[in-house]
Amino acid sequence: MSEKIFRSPKKKGKMAVFLSGRGSNFRAIHDSILKGKINAEISVVFSNKRKAQGLKLAKERNLNTLYLNPKDYSSKVDYDKTVIQELKKIGVDLICLAGYMKILTPHFCQQFPHRIMNIHPALLPAFPGLHVQKKALEWGVKYSGATVHFVTPDVDMGPIILQSVVPVYQDDTEETLSERILKEEHRIYPEAVKLFFQGKLEVRGRRVFIY
Ligand code: GRF
Repeated sequence: MSEKIFRSPKKKGKMAVFLSGRGSNFRAIHDSILKGKINAEISVVFSNKRKAQGLKLAKERNLNTLYLNPKDYSSKVDYDKTVIQELKKIGVDLICLAGYMKILTPHFCQQFPHRIMNIHPALLPAFPGLHVQKKALEWGVKYSGATVHFVTPDVDMGPIILQSVVPVYQDDTEETLSERILKEEHRIYPEAVKLFFQGKLEVRGRRVFIY
């Protein structure tokens, strides 16, 4: 059987950014767009947290925002179905998870194959999930970093697009390591989005090729 190949579209794209917190990755992506480095616009910034700092930042930047309270829905699937409807209305090409602290349902992931990216503060497949820097320090790894990957129902395990490595020092704390990694996140996330809309990403199985 021949392998299914996905090639990202070369076009001016419409993006959605999903966040639950401070939104520094959202800011880095938006800054890159404003500098003309990414051929896309952010059509909506979505959050499951009404008070997310990133949502406030998006409003200050005059971007369209959407907040939906999970408590208003009877199930996770119902919630995601409403979000999907909103995104389909807009015609979103790419969804960037940027500190979105809610796991997407498999149903959601299936609606947007190779159209959802996430940033993770470790060198996946090491240290998926939460409390990532704590785990890295406890393991005594000498290097950690950041990973941009496509999202599949298997949390933090989708095809890897870009990674960046940082050293881990003996006197690091979760805070100092997070800070070093975050700088790399702000560099590689916009880069991955740029490559996507340049039509340069090709996914074959679990590998992403950059052309
Ligand atoms: C980042 O560390 C990212 O890797 C993780 O959540 C954090 C979000 O930070 N997925 P911010 O809201 O983008 O500042």
